[in-house]
Amino acid sequence: MLKPDKFAFDINTIKNDKTLKVFTKNQLALRNGRDKEEIWVAFNGNIYDVGSSRLWRNGTHYEHWAGQDLTEELKDAPHTEKVFEKFEIIGKLS
Ligand code: HEM
Repeated sequence: MLKPDKFAFDINTIKNDKTLKVFTKNQLALRNGRDKEEIWVAFNGNIYDVGSSRLWRNGTHYEHWAGQDLTEELKDAPHTEKVFEKFEIIGKLS
């Protein structure tokens, strides 16, 4: 049987594969909370809108900056990728 957290992750992936827009690295770079209002982070090919998080206010998070692919940086974090589960995937990184 699937664990609840695994199930939630798979639903997100399925839901988004058909409908998601694709953004380039440069388009993502503008969504850093400064150049544009949006605060987006890419992780494992998905782009998440973390604008609702007080932990990402102004696009910064413990010396990490939004508007980028932070897949590699997650290794430095004291948490796993589960922190992304509550955020909407709003696009794919090209
Ligand atoms: C030195 C590096 C980092 C530190 C000290 C740090 C610390 C934290 C802490 C304390 C939280 C609160 C919730 C929790 O622990 O589960 C959190 C949440 C989160 N972190 Fe990090 N983090 C780091 C790096 C990163 C990186 C590189 C990413 C992206 C790949 C990331 C993405 C997130 C997200 C999306 C949340 C959820 C925010 C929310 O629920 O409002 N973090 N982080």
